[in-house]
Amino acid sequence: MIREVLRMGDPRLLRRAAPVEVFATRELAALIQDMRDTMAHLNGAGLAAPQIGVDLRVVIFGGGANPRYPDASSVPDTVLINPVLTPLSDDEEGGWEGCLSVPGLRGWVSRWTDLHYAGFDEQGQAFARRATGFHARVVQHECDHLDGVLYPMRVRDFSRFGYTEVLFPDGVVVADD
Ligand code: NI
Repeated sequence: MIREVLRMGDPRLLRRAAPVEVFATRELAALIQDMRDTMAHLNGAGLAAPQIGVDLRVVIFGGGANPRYPDASSVPDTVLINPVLTPLSDDEEGGWEGCLSVPGLRGWVSRWTDLHYAGFDEQGQAFARRATGFHARVVQHECDHLDGVLYPMRVRDFSRFGYTEVLFPDGVVVADD
């Protein structure tokens, strides 16, 4: 079921979400299905449970070809629960980001370029991966939502924060959600 995505200004986006304690439940499966439906409907590259008002540490990302984000095909289709992120170097790089909770805008955000992430799938199976580049950016953006952080809070240079159609009048956007 497609759910309403909360927009910036809603206090529910600012909470530190609670860990999932019980896996492989119908409720968790229904939540993830709703998140997939909502992300696909909006052509998002990722979505966090708090964005649909659910206060749990669940994110999804990937989903293959995405007209909004040509780089998204490099990101595996993933359900990540109770994530732990660890940078593998101090290197950061800037990139344009957008967010389904901040519609119509893009901002330039610095992120770790190389990281390790660990967590659980919906069955409670632990897994871990290394991520670089756009994949690493998406993971950091989505996991920020679990700590009540929206990407505009990470914009350092507000001359590179604005409306997508003004920043990119030719329609070419390289960014992530
Ligand atoms: Ni977002």
